[in-house]
Amino acid sequence: RLPIVEESIECLRRNDYGGYTIPAHNLYPFQWNWDSAIVAAGWAVFDEARAWEEFEKLFSGQWEDGMVPSIIFHRPSTSYFPGPEIWGSPAAPSESTGITQPPVASVSARFLFEHTEHAELAEEQMADLFPKLLASHRWWYKARDPEKKGIVAILHPWESGMDNSPAWDAALQFPVDNLPPYERKDLQHVNACMRPTKETYDHYLTLLYRFKAENYYDSNKLYWVSPFRMTDLCTNSILFRANRDLRWLAIKLGKTDVVAEIDEWLERGFEGFKQLWDEDAGLFKCQDQLTGKLDDAATSAAFLPLFAGVASKEQAAKLAENLKQWLDKVPFGVPSTDPRDPRFEPLRYWRGPVWIIINWMIFNGLRHYGYDDLAQRIYDDSVALTSNAGLREYFDPQTGDGAGVGALVRQFTRNCRILR
Ligand code: DGY
Repeated sequence: RLPIVEESIECLRRNDYGGYTIPAHNLYPFQWNWDSAIVAAGWAVFDEARAWEEFEKLFSGQWEDGMVPSIIFHRPSTSYFPGPEIWGSPAAPSESTGITQPPVASVSARFLFEHTEHAELAEEQMADLFPKLLASHRWWYKARDPEKKGIVAILHPWESGMDNSPAWDAALQFPVDNLPPYERKDLQHVNACMRPTKETYDHYLTLLYRFKAENYYDSNKLYWVSPFRMTDLCTNSILFRANRDLRWLAIKLGKTDVVAEIDEWLERGFEGFKQLWDEDAGLFKCQDQLTGKLDDAATSAAFLPLFAGVASKEQAAKLAENLKQWLDKVPFGVPSTDPRDPRFEPLRYWRGPVWIIINWMIFNGLRHYGYDDLAQRIYDDSVALTSNAGLREYFDPQTGDGAGVGALVRQFTRNCRILR
């Protein structure tokens, strides 16, 4: 095993809160939806039973309508804002947020099931998990594609996982509401130059309070009232891939009665993605559903349709070409925003830094389309980054420094382009 694998195992153990894994002490002290689904695949490498537990805990927070919330607040913490007292009410704090995150669960559940060394355990766990996965996919189509466009909407930047992406800047121009005074906790753990600005947080909270006012995040209403409604490439690519993996699981489990329903999602998704292709840029783009415009930001999410397997061969070739150009500009890939874009900031949350999990998805997608050399470059960069800088939230693509939570605050002050 590479030393970094041993370190990863240590890290998972350190962040194990008993059946679920927190992404980071202090900054992220609860169970996050997509983080958790991703680390389940990590646990599977050395402790399959523990990997299944991760899903069990995550889906213990699933709502009756099928939504898997973005955060499950299993136990109190004073180090995160907005916590359960904001999402719920002071009288009755809720156990979760009222929004979701990219649906990675079916992808890693398939991974676990396919590569299991404990078939009996896997059969037993999957019998319990499959209906929950199916309910969560159904929720996406019912709540987030009620007009049957084939692609689903996110209603909050926090739902994308790529919270502070420049792809949300234009859509976040709506006026903010009068908010109750609030104190951010993230800035106690991470230098402000790496985090979203106050103005962005005001928008995040405006959305939160508006959704709460809709009968506590009523899924049937939010799509129609939200001033922010985007087609996110990350969410849609992961959902498309998750549908393929759910279909695979359905066949393995003999649940053939649901295959036609999943096929319909895939067919409609395939059509929906066609509208997100920007031929001039040779990239996929996010779309503002309220204006119908493709957003001009070129972000690492543009490459995730490779992971979905929804890009055509011609589109894949253009994506690979584009990716090479990005990689020519920085020593370590894949930056979360095109390094040639004026909005590129190498240290600020989702506006430039490298995330290893996105690298893994792009790597996986490139291999699928036969771009093995390019995939290898991303693999090598990922090993170099983590081996040199340690396991960090994210990395500076220009220097390879580890950044985000846990990074030494002073070390970064000089590197920050905008310090607020
Ligand atoms: C945050 O930064 O608070 C978000 O919940 C992470 O997605």
